[in-house]
Amino acid sequence: MTVDLKTHWDSVYREKPEDSLTWHQDCPSTSLELIDMIGLTPTSSAIDVGGGTSRLAASLLANGLRDVSVLDISGVALENARLQLGDTGNTVTWIQTDITGWVPDRQYDLWHDRAVFHFLVDARDRVTYLASLRKGLRIGGYAIIATFAPDGPEKCSGLPVVRYSPTGLGTVLGDGFELVAHRDEMHQTPAGRTQAFQFSLFRRTA
Ligand SMILES: C[S@@+](CC[C@H](N)C(=O)[O-])C[C@H]1O[C@@H](n2cnc3c(N)ncnc32)[C@H](O)[C@@H]1O
Repeated sequence: MTVDLKTHWDSVYREKPEDSLTWHQDCPSTSLELIDMIGLTPTSSAIDVGGGTSRLAASLLANGLRDVSVLDISGVALENARLQLGDTGNTVTWIQTDITGWVPDRQYDLWHDRAVFHFLVDARDRVTYLASLRKGLRIGGYAIIATFAPDGPEKCSGLPVVRYSPTGLGTVLGDGFELVAHRDEMHQTPAGRTQAFQFSLFRRTA
């Protein structure tokens, strides 16, 4: 059966309360810790790829950024996220698309992805994702990519994932990305289970 990903993710966000989603975080603290290392300024630009209803965009806006984009395959997730933000939601650029087919028409200083790249189990999807990353992230900019760690779950939201170590992820990204820092995180799901994540911070060098 062909999985229609947009339908899958729209149903998830339509049918489940946000605080029951396994990946839900009240605060994206590990991402923010790594972002602190980069030294963004109010004129920096950032995109949260597969941002869903994450609080990351709100945190970036609260830190003074004015150029924040959130991309997700689910229009339901983006609408929920926009409503959560109230009036400030109007300052965010919302992009409803599948990242594996997206061709950015501009560049960002920060590319953030928590728990999206790991869904790309087909090598062709990883190739197109990485083409988007190279087109959308300026040289000298940073990418934070968080995935399930090698000892993390084999599935998320019923879909298979690829698990990575920071160095393994660096190998997949290939030349032109320098691993600057990484963090392990044992994420507590709302149901009380733990999931091993890795967060890697890469600098685009070429
Ligand atoms: C596990 S959730 C993580 C959400 C968010 N990053 C967070 O940390 O709360 C995965 C998100 O990726 C989105 N997604 C899955 N596949 C995608 C794709 N191919 N293109 C864009 N977004 C995708 C889903 O709609 C969902 O919002």
